[in-house]
Amino acid sequence: MYIKKLKLHNFRNYKSLNITLTKGINIIYGENAQGKTNLLESIYVLGITKSHRNFIDNSLIKKNEDYLTIEGIISKNKIDDKLNIYLDNKTKILKYNNNTIKKISDYISNMNIIIFYPDDLELIKGSPQIRRKYINLQLSQLYSNYFILLNEYLKILKLRNEYLKKINKKISKDLNYLDILTGYLIDKAILIYKMRDKYIKKVNEHCSNIYINIMNLDGFNIKYKPSIELDIKDPNIKEKLKKEYDKRLDYDLKLLSTSIGPHKDDIEFYLNDKNLKYYGSQGQQRIAVLALKLSEIEIFKKYKETTPILLLDDIFSELDDNKKNNLLKYISKDIQTIITTTELNNLDSKLIKKSKLFNIKEGNIIKIKEVKLDE
Ligand SMILES: Nc1ncnc2c1ncn2[C@@H]1O[C@H](COP(=O)(O)OP(=O)(O)O)[C@@H](O)[C@H]1O
Ligand SMILES: [Mg+2]
Repeated sequence: MYIKKLKLHNFRNYKSLNITLTKGINIIYGENAQGKTNLLESIYVLGITKSHRNFIDNSLIKKNEDYLTIEGIISKNKIDDKLNIYLDNKTKILKYNNNTIKKISDYISNMNIIIFYPDDLELIKGSPQIRRKYINLQLSQLYSNYFILLNEYLKILKLRNEYLKKINKKISKDLNYLDILTGYLIDKAILIYKMRDKYIKKVNEHCSNIYINIMNLDGFNIKYKPSIELDIKDPNIKEKLKKEYDKRLDYDLKLLSTSIGPHKDDIEFYLNDKNLKYYGSQGQQRIAVLALKLSEIEIFKKYKETTPILLLDDIFSELDDNKKNNLLKYISKDIQTIITTTELNNLDSKLIKKSKLFNIKEGNIIKIKEVKLDE
């Protein structure tokens, strides 16, 4: 799939913008603080409904304005669809082909995005929460029922935690009710465990080869780390999990929350038996994130029968030429790619030749170079 047209109104430093993108490679260039990242961010928000940066929604609205709109035409298998987002201080309205969409799960699987940006290293170095958020997002883009399942799980989790508090404060003492909640929670947890496990296996089918191709290093893999020992294929998994929850009941009552479950999951990145979080060089970590995300492209191709839109925010300045070229091999003509850079010199001249170029200054496009090799 690719984004054909993008229209912005009051998005960060853009008063209004109306551009046509090529389905191949698009390069957004300009000096610092001109709006390159903002432009990528608007495309991300259009697809995912939230920013990839940790900002509250309101900061997306242009200063001194009270609403923003983003509109995009997404082309998939020769069919065009229109996505719209309207945001003000109180509401966010999502539209798909002019129909208002109430459920985010119905919206976010329409436009698939993979983004690379300098803070990506947090995916390895940061807290488990960042990795869970990432996996949840990827699975939600792949399967809209995952998003629904996850929200059901979180709802029951909240009920269980509230009930633990009530028992602790002796407002309630009905342990049967707690058992019922725990049972529901485990049912949902097992489904999430299975989907995450399958997903990590899919990623592993691709990422180690990608890592070899870019880094020339063998043995890269990703491990799924649920908060407890778990045999996903065990037919008695439900009973075993129930025992674990029972065993931890006193602890959970003290903690006033549920100490195990998918909300405590993590993933780890390994080069052979070396955990890259602790023992990887910055370069190894960076390529690990690239390999993970490039694997997503293969997964999308296979399971959604389309390619996602690739957003590359200022990542070329940090890679040496060799790795840059290895990476560019993955960015073939059939994946729409939108690259930002301050220096066109950071990019290969052959790449520039086949790209559509947008020069940005203070939230305006001041120059466009079309591509001839488009179709
Ligand atoms: N809500 C907003 N309203 C107006 N300007 C904004 C808003 N948020 C960020 N900006 C401006 O956007 C610019 C940064 O844009 P950005 O896309 O991050 O730059 P870069 O081109 O370096 O990637 C800054 O000048 C900043 O003041
Ligand atoms: Mg930037």
